[in-house]
Amino acid sequence: MLAPETPAAKRKSAKRKSAPVKKRRQEPGSAPAARLLAWYDRSHRPLPWRAPPRQLQVPYRVWLSEIMLQQTTVPAVKAYYEKFLTFWPDFEALAAAPVDDVMKAWAGLGYYSRARNLHACAKVVAGEFGGTLPDDEKALQKLPGIGAYTSAAIAAIAFGKRAVVVDANVERVVARLFRIAEPLPQAKPLIREKADTLTPDERAGDFAQAMMDLGATICTPKKPSCLLCPLQDECDAFTNGDAELYPVKAPKVDKPQRHGAVFLLRRADGKILMRTRPPKGLLGGMAEFPGSEWSSDFRTASASDLAPVVADWKKLAGNVEHVFTHFALRLAVFHAAAPRGLRAPQGMRWVAEQDVEDEALPTLMRKVWMHGRGK
Ligand code: ADE
Ligand code: SF4
Repeated sequence: MLAPETPAAKRKSAKRKSAPVKKRRQEPGSAPAARLLAWYDRSHRPLPWRAPPRQLQVPYRVWLSEIMLQQTTVPAVKAYYEKFLTFWPDFEALAAAPVDDVMKAWAGLGYYSRARNLHACAKVVAGEFGGTLPDDEKALQKLPGIGAYTSAAIAAIAFGKRAVVVDANVERVVARLFRIAEPLPQAKPLIREKADTLTPDERAGDFAQAMMDLGATICTPKKPSCLLCPLQDECDAFTNGDAELYPVKAPKVDKPQRHGAVFLLRRADGKILMRTRPPKGLLGGMAEFPGSEWSSDFRTASASDLAPVVADWKKLAGNVEHVFTHFALRLAVFHAAAPRGLRAPQGMRWVAEQDVEDEALPTLMRKVWMHGRGK
């Protein structure tokens, strides 16, 4: 940029330097939105589920990607998104699939109730809405798995409606722009209010995705690249040089540690004993090797009492560790051999060794299998 030359411009630039926090008025569709959209036109990330700027994306694709992206990173979602789109290109195809196939295709993405809801939602859309999503937030929120965030994202990105879309990236950007001192999660309503004042009437979908991209590539949690940021001039945290302090977070409590045991039983014909978890709850509907409950006071020494069958159980060296949202888990892995012809206990089944990896295995059980297979 050229140095300011007129006296008025000089005064303005001097004033900018001396003022610790600039006063500004946020009108809908105001300067920040325009700047951000111009930046998005130049610098958006090309992602498989995105239409080019100014174009709407097919609702099915927006919905599918937004459900997958909840709690999951962009790189992790890409391959799953492509796979789902190939297997099931629209609501009707997905609705017609057996839920087990959907769970299998989802295996590894985590938060498995999303997969169950995805399938349930496809059934409602195919069965009751003629295969197309409703276009307003309220109606969208009545569908399985669609909450405030997802309904806003779909309304804006697929239907071009003005909707205020706030995910964790947007929260961070807004908390910095306005230097919001209140900690998360209490600050959520205020952040939403501020995001509302920024959201333009036109191109709300591009605006939402631009905020996400800004948060992912420039306004990052650590060491944001403020010098490259299109919103620098509007940003209170930049003006104060303390962007990294926002969003303020309530102090973290440590996750409780739980323990348990898991049992790999290999029959003489090479088959492995497995079962399916109940449909509701953690890892609902996913496949697993039989195991104990997971608790804080689990005693590994007497774990083999909890095995699915009586056998010569041996503990493998080491443990399998996995971190869930609300606790960390350490599993001891036991293995044993079973005679040919042993029947599977109630609710369990034998799976050929080469088919184990085609089961709907959550990441935890994949780790168990890596740890214990071939032993
Ligand atoms: N995270 C959630 N939705 C997204 C989108 N549409 N683009 C990029 N990141 C996202
Ligand atoms: Fe984030 Fe810095 Fe841009 Fe402010 S100037 S929005 S803190 S990247």
